[in-house]
Amino acid sequence: MKYIVKSKIETRALAEKFASKLKNGDIVCLNGDLGAGKTTFTQFVFSALGVKDSVNSPTFSILKIYQGDKFKLNHFDTYRITVEEAIEAGFDEILEDQNGITFIEWSENISSLIPSKHIDVNIKMIDENSREFEIKYE
Ligand SMILES: Nc1ncnc2c1ncn2[C@@H]1O[C@H](COP(=O)(O)OP(=O)(O)O)[C@@H](O)[C@H]1O
Ligand SMILES: [Mg+2]
Repeated sequence: MKYIVKSKIETRALAEKFASKLKNGDIVCLNGDLGAGKTTFTQFVFSALGVKDSVNSPTFSILKIYQGDKFKLNHFDTYRITVEEAIEAGFDEILEDQNGITFIEWSENISSLIPSKHIDVNIKMIDENSREFEIKYE
């Protein structure tokens, strides 16, 4: 499904709708250029799921783990990391863990590690405040 949003408020509404369908074991792959809105979308989803901490890009730590009301939420940013580094950071174990939902920014870098059953969220920047979101359940 493709969605056009014209503001961050509309992105938040889309994120809330998306959040309501998530379940334990889901893997969400976020793809799009720098500044497309991968982290922003993740922040809105996590907030909708009851995360009180501020969610920021885990670029320098690769992985951050948050606790929502019902779910443990893993947030990976694999920008510029190699498959070996991802494994070292515990990527495999997190993905096998059905007790939690995992969001991965820049998943294309480590596509060989991603299970075939996952959700793709592809984001394109249209202009300053507009984005195209393509959400695919595989
Ligand atoms: N409709 C929108 N949805 C998401 N982000 C938006 C939107 N409009 C503007 N932005 C801005 O775009 C930037 C997205 O940054 P970020 O989420 O960090 O991107 P990424 O993680 O993909 O690099 C933020 O500064 C955000 O405020
Ligand atoms: Mg980001």
